[in-house]
Amino acid sequence: MTTDSPAPTPRIRVAILFGGRSSEHAVSCVTAAGVLGAIDRGKYDVVAIGIAKNGQWVLAGDEVSGWSLAGGALPEVKAGGQSVSLAHLGGGHQLVVQEAAQVPQELGVVDVVFPLLHGPWGEDGTIQGMLELSDTRYVGAGVLASAIGMDKHFMKVVFEAAGLAVGPFIAVTDREWTVNPGRVRDRVSALGFPVFVKPARAGSSMGISKVDSVDGLDAAIAAAREHDLKLVIEAGIVGREIEIAVLEGRGSAAPRVSLPGEVTMMDGTHHAFYDFEAKYVHGDAVTLSCPADMPEVDLARIREQAALAFDAVGAEGLSRVDFFYTAAGDLIINEINTMPGFTPSSMYPQMWAASGLSYRDLIDELVQLALTRKVGLR
Ligand SMILES: Nc1ncnc2c1ncn2[C@@H]1O[C@H](COP(=O)(O)OP(=O)(O)O)[C@@H](O)[C@H]1O
Ligand SMILES: [Mg+2]
Repeated sequence: MTTDSPAPTPRIRVAILFGGRSSEHAVSCVTAAGVLGAIDRGKYDVVAIGIAKNGQWVLAGDEVSGWSLAGGALPEVKAGGQSVSLAHLGGGHQLVVQEAAQVPQELGVVDVVFPLLHGPWGEDGTIQGMLELSDTRYVGAGVLASAIGMDKHFMKVVFEAAGLAVGPFIAVTDREWTVNPGRVRDRVSALGFPVFVKPARAGSSMGISKVDSVDGLDAAIAAAREHDLKLVIEAGIVGREIEIAVLEGRGSAAPRVSLPGEVTMMDGTHHAFYDFEAKYVHGDAVTLSCPADMPEVDLARIREQAALAFDAVGAEGLSRVDFFYTAAGDLIINEINTMPGFTPSSMYPQMWAASGLSYRDLIDELVQLALTRKVGLR
């Protein structure tokens, strides 16, 4: 070894956080398999941290096979064994591992956390708040943007304020349904059927039903309330489902927008809409295609509106913005997902692949964006 050889650059420590307490636990594990398989291990030292359904953080295996969807069985992070926590030790954020009745072991500093979590306690600002408290950099949206993106009611309020077209809807609180269900039924009937009854804060179509008449309403409300006591009920929109992937710009650059993707339900399936089973179980019930065929003028409008939605909620890193595109050419925004499906075959990475950015490079870009971000108020 020569004396003037440069010291090797230490690899950047990335903690991949996955699993979690929400009903999208298994989906998150499958995403972790994708990211663990694609992330540049030469550049990044990866620590895989699973969050069990009870909320315990455990040191997880970082091999892809452990978290893939194999033979139809849904992967799950099991509680027990070694617990991991992120501690704020003397100004640094260190990972600490502890097993029952053992002395805690320091696992070292983490440069950046990549939360691959969907749904409540992951995509909703709570984990983000915890990371903020320890001055830890992380991929994706901050506390407020995550919380807005999780709540289908406040999301629409923000979109409307930004001048985006939102379909007719009502929000229903627990108190309202408990105290005056008759009034809720009247307000829903005023929207006109069919309606979509949704938990305000869920994901992957969990708890969502399409209701064709007032007779089915109470059952749909009960099903949605299993996920969240706050509901959003929307008039059904007839239109194509077009999605845009948005990626934060570097430095002070504007957000980058992908080509449009389209979700098409296959005819003759029993799915009334893009529900959980169609998303994850019956792969052949839907086709995801990119780029979606649409006139240049509408393409420009939808890309502009997607970037506007990203900025309206104050998103960072990544978001997928979903629209309904009617036969008349109207664009109605459905939602923003601050942590969209992120397996290699999910829409968000697929839309970037079609736009010239590979999955591996996309992961790299997201980690780099997070590393260059300031901690604290920004
Ligand atoms: N107002 C609506 N009109 C027509 N279809 C809808 C409406 N809302 C939801 N859907 C259908 O239900 C799916 C899931 O709803 P969405 O609000 O996107 O929930 P999630 O956040 O769980 O993805 C949509 O992709 C679409 O197929
Ligand atoms: Mg959706």
